[in-house]
Amino acid sequence: MPSGVRRTAFFTFAMSLVALAVAAGAYAGNGGFLPGDAHSPNAHRIHDAFIFVAIFTGIILVLVEGALIAFVIKYRRGSRARTVEGPQIHGSTRLEILWTVVPVLVLAAIGSFVLYKLPGIADAPKAAAADETTIQIEGHQFYWLFRYPNGAVSINRMIAPANEVVHEDVIGLDWDVNHSWWVPDLGGKNDAIPGRVNKTWFEAPVGTYVARCAELCGIQHALMDATVQVVPRAQYDSFIQQRSANASGVALGKEEWQGVCQSCHRLDHTYIGPALGGNPLLADRKGIESLLRNGGVQMPAVGKNWTGAQIDALIAYTKQFATKGATG
Ligand code: CUA
Repeated sequence: MPSGVRRTAFFTFAMSLVALAVAAGAYAGNGGFLPGDAHSPNAHRIHDAFIFVAIFTGIILVLVEGALIAFVIKYRRGSRARTVEGPQIHGSTRLEILWTVVPVLVLAAIGSFVLYKLPGIADAPKAAAADETTIQIEGHQFYWLFRYPNGAVSINRMIAPANEVVHEDVIGLDWDVNHSWWVPDLGGKNDAIPGRVNKTWFEAPVGTYVARCAELCGIQHALMDATVQVVPRAQYDSFIQQRSANASGVALGKEEWQGVCQSCHRLDHTYIGPALGGNPLLADRKGIESLLRNGGVQMPAVGKNWTGAQIDALIAYTKQFATKGATG
């Protein structure tokens, strides 16, 4: 290779490395090394495992890449002719035993540590039955629906009691696609697989935690976020009582409009789907029910399992947009 070409190749390679290294840091922002701050016992254990594995992979990265760079420099061709062959080596028993045994020990250490941590991640701590709440989490294209023990419903915003075990049933609906429920601060990812229920839990102090869909589920996957608002028990009780007593109210309807319809629709312009402002369907109970339950040409059946009250709630909010000239 002529030296000019070699220099250009080396320069391109070096700049690519710098760009990669800088881009990763810039993209991460202040996201930090760990997936969020742990605020639940299972999330703490996941972080422990994360750090334990990272120590080994970090050491291996430095050793392997360090040796690679050192050998590239030490054994470079220099002034030898391009056709000169290197020394022919056949086997090194000691080296071969070493590079078999060391990885086995490393994998055994990582495996043992993770298995030791696993029960505390998967199993909720025992608690008095009275202190336990189970919230059902349904993954829909493209929103999260939460059902509480008294039948109350919320969309994209889970309210949960603080400092007690909250069980989560992550439900995959038969007619929907795969989603994955992930609240990084409160534990690991749990897939919502059609036809299955995956169980997980958390126990967290008062706070608002970000949830994401961690499985590519379609065109609006990236916007399928939610929050988990952990509040004192009394506040949680009063929220679900109000919601259940007013199950067809405007408050839920607004959540449905913003969390479900607005995933793909706007009032005044075409978005993923057509503009909806002035559409008489927004005040037509029968028409909208049919659309929600069966879907449209491209629209999934976003409300197939909604209760009558949920549909009433949507209409209570959207009827204001059914007349021409409505904006919002
Ligand atoms: Cu739901 Cu991605």
